[in-house]
Amino acid sequence: MRMYDFLVPSVNFMGVGSIKVVGERCKILGGKKALIVTDRFLRGMEDGAVAQTVKYLQEAGIEVVFYDDVEPNPKDTNVRDGLKVYKEEKCDLIVTVGGGSSHDCGKGIGIAATHEGDLYDYAGIETLTNPLPPIVSVNTTAGTGSEVTRHCVITNTKTKIKFVIVSWRNLPLVSINDPMLMIKKPAGLTAATGMDALTHAIEAYVSKDANPVTDASAIQAIKLIANNLRQAVALGENIEARENMAYASLLAGMAFNNANLGYVHAMAHQLGGLYDMAHGVANAMLLPHVERYNLISNPKKFADIAEFMGENIDGLSVIEAGEKAIKAIFRLSTDIGIPSKLRDMGVKEEDFEYMAEMALKDGNAFSNPRKGNEKDIVKIFREAF
Ligand SMILES: [Fe+2]
Repeated sequence: MRMYDFLVPSVNFMGVGSIKVVGERCKILGGKKALIVTDRFLRGMEDGAVAQTVKYLQEAGIEVVFYDDVEPNPKDTNVRDGLKVYKEEKCDLIVTVGGGSSHDCGKGIGIAATHEGDLYDYAGIETLTNPLPPIVSVNTTAGTGSEVTRHCVITNTKTKIKFVIVSWRNLPLVSINDPMLMIKKPAGLTAATGMDALTHAIEAYVSKDANPVTDASAIQAIKLIANNLRQAVALGENIEARENMAYASLLAGMAFNNANLGYVHAMAHQLGGLYDMAHGVANAMLLPHVERYNLISNPKKFADIAEFMGENIDGLSVIEAGEKAIKAIFRLSTDIGIPSKLRDMGVKEEDFEYMAEMALKDGNAFSNPRKGNEKDIVKIFREAF
């Protein structure tokens, strides 16, 4: 018998026009002055996600100030600078607008505002002791799922290591996934963030912490991504594909919030920390190689994935069917233009051993369904190279 803990998601608003509730929801949370955490590009967009968020917050009588310097793979320096604005302006609410980088930076600011010492002192699971200010996340990518997860990933700029703070206290109280805010995302970003969501769903589905509840979310996410990601990349304004991808990324977030992840994320965090590689691209490039390694841990689940992704597995043995899942992942990646070799991304072979050592220490490594050592991880890096 095993015992599971479940994190119940916060209030999630989905669908076209859901951005309209952001003001009233912040008011319900008692906010008077919100720090909007975002990046310059989103802030500069006319009638974009930031402009609309500001409009609805002001209509609800909430003052707004900005921290708009969030970088991809958000840095500890971003958190420090955002915290300065939060404190100086005496904010009582954090509204993150963007993808995972904005949400994670906002969570980091919330942690730093309420906890003594360095942020990295809190790396690990359930280390937070104080309540955070309320966080409301307006999501514009599909995606990291960070708007519904307890994970906060920040890069330590001194060590170039990404560290993860996993705590129920990080959870945004309200999330908004309005596909109209996603239609202008460029194809490359849509592809990368969509593959991040697929990685969440697959890693959660085969995770050693998976259970029937997390499986239900993961399965639905895999099916939605297999049937909609190509279309969303091909035509950003395809609102049906965008909406289905938003559901998929939220479902995948719910799945890994409780089932955790695996070696793909543990290894991708090293590529993000050391080379600042986009998170979704790093995951997409590693996913088929890690899952080929994981295949023997649960061939039936991999055969399921092949089927969910539209492969014909009639007449195949379970292990042959499982191999088709790896092929399906490769095909999807290729179709949407994800690069295939780490060597083309500035990755250096001489870093493999160090990255393998650090990957096995990453919190995501512990739920991988096959227990490996440094040599195994180096071999996977080499295969993806
Ligand atoms: Fe991710």
